[in-house]
Amino acid sequence: MPFLEREFLFTSGKGGVGKTTVAVALGRALAARGRRVLVGLLDASLGARLLGVETLTSGHMQPCAERLWATLIEPEAAIAEYATMILKSPTAYRALLENRYARSFFTAVPGLYQWAVLGKAWYHSQEHTAAGTRRFDTVILDAPATGHGLEMLRVPKLILEVAPVGVLRRDAELAWQTLTDAKRAGVVVVSIPEELAVSETLELVSKLGELKVPVAAVVLNAVHERLFNAEERESLTDLGERLGAPAKRLVQVGLERLLREDAEAKQMGRLAALAESLVKLPWVEGAATEPGVRPLVGALADALTAA
Ligand SMILES: Nc1ncnc2c1ncn2[C@@H]1O[C@H](COP(=O)(O)OP(=O)(O)OP(=O)(O)O)[C@@H](O)[C@H]1O
Ligand SMILES: [Mg+2]
Repeated sequence: MPFLEREFLFTSGKGGVGKTTVAVALGRALAARGRRVLVGLLDASLGARLLGVETLTSGHMQPCAERLWATLIEPEAAIAEYATMILKSPTAYRALLENRYARSFFTAVPGLYQWAVLGKAWYHSQEHTAAGTRRFDTVILDAPATGHGLEMLRVPKLILEVAPVGVLRRDAELAWQTLTDAKRAGVVVVSIPEELAVSETLELVSKLGELKVPVAAVVLNAVHERLFNAEERESLTDLGERLGAPAKRLVQVGLERLLREDAEAKQMGRLAALAESLVKLPWVEGAATEPGVRPLVGALADALTAA
């Protein structure tokens, strides 16, 4: 598994390709491999459903399974926690926020929200227990889709360029060191074998390269299993021409499946240069329905554990 040893992972990719599902499945897979894992999610209800827990709240580490915890990361709450840490007193922070001008200043700072989310997840990845051991071996942040995910990753670099010396700069510097170290961190780029998603994946990988943020893996999700061997493929095409209805209809369904498999194979071909970091996850039937969500996470976690 290419991401096994890293302490901080960040999922990104096109909208709707399965980032959140993969983040949770990856959490399960790493925990199954003996790591203590925290999954940071931005959406409480979906996260809770995927993890099979009642609820997720900000500031609380929800135990989900052996060695697996999840937490909700909300920008507002993260900013408050961070500011409290810097100002060393919640009262000072409240006083600051109660000031209308100070509040509008905070919300206007570009990247502050993104930094609050990324910085908080990163902070947990560096936490130690009183005994001096790491609190978590891996923190996975289920980050936003491509554009916003990239913006989020750029923020610590931006802070380094513009912020004066101080706590904010020091944390950004340490976070940036982690994020750009392939031994310690990486982006899990999630994709599906469809044209637009693959184009976005290639673009994201290239932008991450420019930013010098390593790609931990490219997870190609929802890949349809190849149902027919070469001989069966040939006879299906042949049968389609000879049979009458309704058998013809059945053959038609098989042929449609062939077309889909071929289209997916073509998209996978476009990712050939990334073959070394590519992990394929299966399409899971019935996953879109409510009861199907947990088995989906289980199936993807098994596939990731085996990767
Ligand atoms: N391997 C799979 N097989 C079948 N369905 C899947 C698979 N992976 C994810 N799905 C389904 O795809 C949908 C989108 O998944 P998910 O919410 O994880 O995507 P996302 O990339 O996080 O979306 P968003 O960009 O909105 O955050 C869900 O209905 C999920 O159950
Ligand atoms: Mg999501």
